[in-house]
Amino acid sequence: MNSKLIYCDHNATTPVHSDVQASFVEALSVYGNASSLYQLGRQAKEAIEFSRQQLADCLGASVDQLIFTGSGTEANNHVLMQAIYLKRQSSDPVHILVSSIEHSSVKEMTTYLKSFDIECDFIPVDDNGCIDISVFKGLFKSYTRLVSVVLANNEIGTIQDIQLLCEIAHEHAALFHTDAVQALGKYHIDVNQLNVDFMSFSSHKLYAPKGVGALYIKDETNVNPLLYGGHHERGLRASTENVPGIIAFGTAVSRIDVSYYQQHTESLIEFLKQEFLVLDGVVVNAANSPLRLTNTLNITFSGCSGYALAMNCDLEGIALSTGSACSVGSIEPSHVLDAIGVSVDDNKSSIRFSVGLTNSIEEMHVVAKTVKEIVDRLRSC
Ligand SMILES: Cc1ncc(COP(=O)(O)O)c(C=O)c1O
Repeated sequence: MNSKLIYCDHNATTPVHSDVQASFVEALSVYGNASSLYQLGRQAKEAIEFSRQQLADCLGASVDQLIFTGSGTEANNHVLMQAIYLKRQSSDPVHILVSSIEHSSVKEMTTYLKSFDIECDFIPVDDNGCIDISVFKGLFKSYTRLVSVVLANNEIGTIQDIQLLCEIAHEHAALFHTDAVQALGKYHIDVNQLNVDFMSFSSHKLYAPKGVGALYIKDETNVNPLLYGGHHERGLRASTENVPGIIAFGTAVSRIDVSYYQQHTESLIEFLKQEFLVLDGVVVNAANSPLRLTNTLNITFSGCSGYALAMNCDLEGIALSTGSACSVGSIEPSHVLDAIGVSVDDNKSSIRFSVGLTNSIEEMHVVAKTVKEIVDRLRSC
């Protein structure tokens, strides 16, 4: 076993960066309740607003278009819940569209929404995980009110043409949400250029601690609160704010350098890809998507259980995932790989490498060698 863990699961979560950790620890002393009027409270409030400004600057948003949430899941749920409010506003039917490769925090909301008689359809994708524009256009109904498409997929890394999809949704008078949890810090985001109505984020994918997310809301009149019981976050999200978490999130956002990130992670992923492609029975999933996350590589090693591969890598000190972390513990095939047409057998033989800023090329040499040995061993069993 390697003496040091090689962490290749950055799409599941990221290690906390030392600067971010320092800001978090320092913020623990800013213990006032941000709603309190005295100095300690005002200090906490100022710190929150500073972080909000950091996020707004990064996205091209204004501060009053951003609320902090408890997670990316919460931000996604908050938006999808709006379908229920839309349904209650009139006796008209409500139809929503979500892509077939959404994270479970969007996908599973559709089951809940159906119990309110909301019609939900999944937008199919091609074998690269991309939405076909003509197919997309054909899915709208006169009462389609909301569309949700993940900006960058967590399992295969496909990046969608959000600007175009959003334009089409607006032509049909539907609101548009994109889950940018995996995209922030990895891909340049300008909310004005994309023109979306809602966008979700999560701090722990960005070298900050877990427990904070954010939601961009272009126009507040389109949204009702998810949590009630206080005036926090302009009345849209009652809860005493997680001040250290929000400060750490702001620090992480201020450290974003997309060009460096892309260049660093692309070279690591390219190396791994070339190493694996020399083996027989290897397929890179969604290999030809025009735009993709530079840090993500989803590979099928035919005839080799992805689960066994991940477990054997773990024994060798390499952390990898078979797909979305939320499906760990279940050997259900990935709905994302299913959506791009991967067979059930190949689905179960797939593994995701998601590298990050802490990885080095030396580590990739170890990963490539170890994975190839394990694949050989598992195939000969
Ligand atoms: C694309 C995407 N959306 C949403 C989430 C959920 O974010 P959180 O873990 O902050 O709830 C994740 C987490 O894996 C994700 O990858």
